[in-house]
Amino acid sequence: MTVRAVVLAAGKGTRMKSETPKVLHELCGRPMLWFTLRSLRAAGITDIIVVTNDELEARIGEFDVRSIVQREQLGTGHAVKVALEAMPAVDGGRIVVAYGDMPLITDEIFRGVIGALSDGDQTPSMSLVTVKMPLPSNFGRVVRRGRDVSRIVEVRDASPKELEIDEMNAGIYAFDEAELRNAIALLRNDNAQKEYYLTDTVEHFVGQNRRVRPVLCTDHLHTLGINDRVELARARKEMNQRLCAQYMRDGVTIIDPDTTYLEPELAIGRDTVIYPNTTISRLTEIGSYSVIGPNSRLSGATVGKHVTIRESVVTDSEIGDRTTVGPFAHIRGNTVLGEDVRIGNFVEVKQSMLADGTKAGHLAYLGDANVGENTNIGAGTITCNYDGKNKNPTTIGKNVFIGSNTSIIAPRTIGDNALTGAGSVVTKDIAPGERVAGNPAKPIQKRVPQA
Ligand code: UD1
Ligand code: MG
Repeated sequence: MTVRAVVLAAGKGTRMKSETPKVLHELCGRPMLWFTLRSLRAAGITDIIVVTNDELEARIGEFDVRSIVQREQLGTGHAVKVALEAMPAVDGGRIVVAYGDMPLITDEIFRGVIGALSDGDQTPSMSLVTVKMPLPSNFGRVVRRGRDVSRIVEVRDASPKELEIDEMNAGIYAFDEAELRNAIALLRNDNAQKEYYLTDTVEHFVGQNRRVRPVLCTDHLHTLGINDRVELARARKEMNQRLCAQYMRDGVTIIDPDTTYLEPELAIGRDTVIYPNTTISRLTEIGSYSVIGPNSRLSGATVGKHVTIRESVVTDSEIGDRTTVGPFAHIRGNTVLGEDVRIGNFVEVKQSMLADGTKAGHLAYLGDANVGENTNIGAGTITCNYDGKNKNPTTIGKNVFIGSNTSIIAPRTIGDNALTGAGSVVTKDIAPGERVAGNPAKPIQKRVPQA
């Protein structure tokens, strides 16, 4: 049996008051539509078509999904018609229809609505997800006839009596494909909004003595449709709770899920602990037994085991095992920190490599630098990498001692075992083992113990 899906996302989304198409607004680092597609795929449906408008069509490429533009938004029934015209008919096929603005929908809900089509002796023409909801509500009302549905009535077309019904149409459906094609062809737009309602297919089936089977969803948060940014924030909160729960079940300790902001597709090792006010995003990977936060942001980071990152920002960088970062450090721009590195207070490292065991404990800027093993970068050290036109590299060897408040005017190379005195301004390369001091830095005689 072929099950295919149509996702409707051509609506204007006017209540978002945004230049961005509604289903591209993000929660937890992914557009709403991404979550809907993920749940459909998790339910085993891979043949999906999204009904778009022109603005969404221009950006649909990022989703790896088929799409069709609905030029004029004449209603949900019309949108499905546009999709069906682009899909070759499949004998005995089934079609799931969902709306792209419901990111909290789970794969179980999709499985349930498909399953309901095969339920009982008389196969239903259609099944749909319903949900009990506090009144008042803008959702379409489900008018029942015993166990089945006889009609869905939109709020604007409903009588006062019908408005008292608290069972709503969630907007998720499964259809027998041939019957859907017949019903769609017969839709009319003689209603308050002058739209072709997909929901009118219910009355058609019932008129043909066919059955429409409801599937009651018990949690109305799952079927929250997002129409404005207030609802988007509610959905984001719920989604973040789900994500935190998932990572906790996988062995991560999260001290406060209410202030820990995570995304799908992170890799976080067991027994890692995340402290409050921490955001981890963009495919970040963290090994086991690490401590992240509080008050930290990791984006596109690859972090090893037994690492500590406190009150710091790490973007697009790698951090080796047992390294400690922070408090108040900024690691960015493809920096690679080796193992057992120590980055302390108010240190910024940009596009630099620091080999194992190197330390920059306080108040430093290392940019475009390559630093060897077990080197000590003193407080206040600056790699002066920018000459007003170009960014220039600095190379520092292993076991080097860079004295406090050294300025290295790049491009410069400092050899292994070299030393700079406090306040040095390094304007020339320093040979291995050489000791310099002053402004400009010059060789000095004094012996300094080897690191
Ligand atoms: C719809 C349902 C309503 C249900 C509610 C649940 C109909 C007629 N009504 O109402 O019973 O309770 O969803 O959220 O279906 N869209 C298109 N093309 C169009 C019109 C809409 O692609 O021409 C898309 C929208 O982008 C949106 C979805 O269809 O994703 C639903 O449309 P919307 O206008 O939001 O319908 P509701 O009034 O919310
Ligand atoms: Mg809606």
